[in-house]
Amino acid sequence: MPKVTFHYSGQIKTVDAAPGQTLLQIALDNAIPMEHACGGNGFCTTCMCHVKKGMEALSPRNDREENMGVIDDPDRLSCQAQIQGDVEIEVVEY
Ligand code: FES
Repeated sequence: MPKVTFHYSGQIKTVDAAPGQTLLQIALDNAIPMEHACGGNGFCTTCMCHVKKGMEALSPRNDREENMGVIDDPDRLSCQAQIQGDVEIEVVEY
């Protein structure tokens, strides 16, 4: 089972997740605070994260990310990036 490590608010938390889940779903399921103003639809960028390890274990950037200008590493929209393997991310806090 893939593991996702979140860095947020000075804390580090590693959780198990199912392949195909988005980083946003995994964060919310595990009580990790993550903004999601547009409800996870790829229209706001408040769920932005920085991928520290495992970019290759995420689904490729999709049109919504590209339309929002999220095109460069290490940035990803957590509501669009689906995991396939182990990932380590930093939650971007506003
Ligand atoms: S929650 Fe709005 S872009 Fe991800």
